[in-house]
Amino acid sequence: MVSKVIISIDGTSSTGKSTIARRIAKKLNFTYIDSGSMYRAVTYFCLKNGIIFNNKIEKKKLSENLEKILIDFKLNPINSQNEISLNNNFIDSKLRSLEIAEHVSKIAKQKNVRNFILKIQHHYSKKNNIVMDGRDIGTVVFPNAKYKFFLTASSKTRAKRRYHEMKKNGLNISFSDVLENIITRDKDDSTRTNSPLKIPDDALTINTEKLSLDELEKIILDHIKNN
Ligand code: C5P
Repeated sequence: MVSKVIISIDGTSSTGKSTIARRIAKKLNFTYIDSGSMYRAVTYFCLKNGIIFNNKIEKKKLSENLEKILIDFKLNPINSQNEISLNNNFIDSKLRSLEIAEHVSKIAKQKNVRNFILKIQHHYSKKNNIVMDGRDIGTVVFPNAKYKFFLTASSKTRAKRRYHEMKKNGLNISFSDVLENIITRDKDDSTRTNSPLKIPDDALTINTEKLSLDELEKIILDHIKNN
């Protein structure tokens, strides 16, 4: 069997990973997988089912319930995008709230959650050429990915992007709460024991601070063409 091509796009929160990953996948006719949405979906499930209670994770309940979580990616007929579904419901639009953002890093550092999601990530790579964005894709999930990218930008710029996106989606939030959440998540994600956020040795690091999406796309596609 010819092995599938993997493109990993890692980076801190709100560096534009998902937007560019989706564009690159479309250009190359690859499948796009948003790994952050998988951790957000598990967090959503935990909030709905009392597994996160009083800001704490009920760890026993979490491990008992993991097998009840069915995560899949399929075409959402409403927007024609390949999107996450949780137990057969499209829930992407419910995953972008500040409440989810405030709890997701606690869920994402649990070893059993990471192992559960790793299996799903590997399953997709067997069938398709994929572009996957996240925190540990080039280091842990696919250390042999053919092309690896790591995106950065200042926390202020990232918070501005996320704030405008959330406002556009009708969420009632303040800029300072968004900034604080981004800084806290960066810290939690990069200091955790399991699969911490770090730059893969063989990744091309790109500072997206002053780049338009078209410019970023060109850098990524040129790199892929030349390597
Ligand atoms: O990319 P996004 O902001 O949607 O990710 C949400 C959270 O999911 C991150 O802050 C991180 O805690 C977790 N995550 C992770 N590993 C990934 C992708 C996301 O731990 N590969």
